[in-house]
Amino acid sequence: MAQINPSILSADFARLAEEAEAVRGSDWLHVDVMDNHFVPNLTLGVPVVESLARATDTPLDCHLMIEDPDRWAPQYVEAGAGSVTFHVEAAAAPVRLAREIRAKGARASMALKPGTPIEPYEDLLPELDMLLIMTVEPGFGGQAFLDIMLPKIRRTRELIAKHDLELWLQVDGGVSADTIERCAEAGADVFVAGSAVYGAEDPAEAVRKLRELADK
Ligand code: DX5
Ligand code: ZN
Repeated sequence: MAQINPSILSADFARLAEEAEAVRGSDWLHVDVMDNHFVPNLTLGVPVVESLARATDTPLDCHLMIEDPDRWAPQYVEAGAGSVTFHVEAAAAPVRLAREIRAKGARASMALKPGTPIEPYEDLLPELDMLLIMTVEPGFGGQAFLDIMLPKIRRTRELIAKHDLELWLQVDGGVSADTIERCAEAGADVFVAGSAVYGAEDPAEAVRKLRELADK
């Protein structure tokens, strides 16, 4: 079954606990960490993740859009994240980092920006629990889905099958009722949705609807 991970980037940051409650029943909460260096935007850091982890039962899927994830990612596991995603473009030692995240007890995940190909990283896939293919340039919610990423999703799904891996394939950016079926058909099974969930009148209902479309 498809997993829908609402992104709190589109939520009200002054009411994060309530916003988490509003999408109760979601598989994970997607938490976008931005440092104004790796991406031109700034959001939140370790203390907020620590508090949010205490405030909700939903596991946290932390997407680190930051420089030097080798130094910071382990701290997000300690803060209570159940899954930590680092960008391969920023990581100095991705294999060592993935192993460290797993050793600390979280799911290890690696993200690719739209311009980063999957092929050079084929041999790394067994080190990961999830691969994130960005379907917009990272940095902001509410951007239009990049259809040109669909072949990359397809090729990645083929590599996962070729190596017989239990790897989740996540897409993030512009995922909505209009685009989620294309992503699912291409082979994604974990869907991040920010504006499509928190921009809806009933966020929980939006999650249910997205899941239904992805499972079609
Ligand atoms: C963008 C973030 C996304 C963002 C997606 O860089 O990584 O998680 O919240 O927002 P939507 O779903 O509105 O494109
Ligand atoms: Zn994200």
